[in-house]
Amino acid sequence: MLNLTRRLHNDTTLPVIGLGTWQMPPGEVTYHAVKDALEAGYIHIDTAAGYQNEEAVGRAIKDSKIPRESVFVTTKLESHVKTYQGALDAFDASLKALDMPYVDLYLIHAPWPWSDIGSNHDAGNIEAWKALETIYASGRAKAIGVSNFSPRDIDNILTEATVVPHANQIGLFVGNPQTETVDYCREKQIQIIAYSPLAIGYALDDPLVTEMARKYAVTPAQLLIRYTIERGAATLPKSTHAARMKENAAVDFSLQDADMQTLNQYVNDPRKFN
Ligand code: A2P
Repeated sequence: MLNLTRRLHNDTTLPVIGLGTWQMPPGEVTYHAVKDALEAGYIHIDTAAGYQNEEAVGRAIKDSKIPRESVFVTTKLESHVKTYQGALDAFDASLKALDMPYVDLYLIHAPWPWSDIGSNHDAGNIEAWKALETIYASGRAKAIGVSNFSPRDIDNILTEATVVPHANQIGLFVGNPQTETVDYCREKQIQIIAYSPLAIGYALDDPLVTEMARKYAVTPAQLLIRYTIERGAATLPKSTHAARMKENAAVDFSLQDADMQTLNQYVNDPRKFN
């Protein structure tokens, strides 16, 4: 499953299962988690300037001796940076922290600063997107996209964009189906990447999830991760435990249409994303 890929609309290849590193402590915890993941066969690592663990991610990849071009690395522009020059500078800082000449995917982390969720930054997002287009043209990001963007937020940047975002990374999990955004992005060929496919752990002991996992003879984590893949998304389960990383990648089974329907209709979002 770790070799399963999807093609972005610029023809770059995205490994479907990646290691999420949100809320992983910077330094040694992240370093060892990324090393364990690479040893388990993960070839897609997701980080962000805002996670403050880019340095550990970059070091672990370097120390693994896996060639840089064999690993897909995503990082993100901090959510409060909404100017052209600010975004260019932030990208340079991310490459420096990662100690890499390029990233595979660079995302605007959110349409608004985390300190002011929901505030309007339409003009700033257009400016930041222009910077990402400049970075993409330079070859230092092989693909560019957004994160936590609604269809309205994407429509806003498309008014001036020359590059349609290649991906939109959103909180997508059983209980938070994100139907409108997933449908919109499919129509625009914007690849959905699911973060927190386990609802940061909250969905693991949900009664519907545990019962359905029993039916398929898989673990709740595997059912939840498979759900995001069946939705057409790439997916970023986060774990700091090597055994769980392996479990999370062993999702080579299918969910029946009727069960997908049940899961899609289940609204029990413990995190209240978007
Ligand atoms: P840990 O890092 O200690 O393994 P999400 O990917 O939705 O953000 O969820 C991450 C949370 O789920 C973390 O608390 C992580 O804990 C836990 N987790 C990840 N994989 C599994 C698994 N296979 N079984 C149980 N818990 C898991």
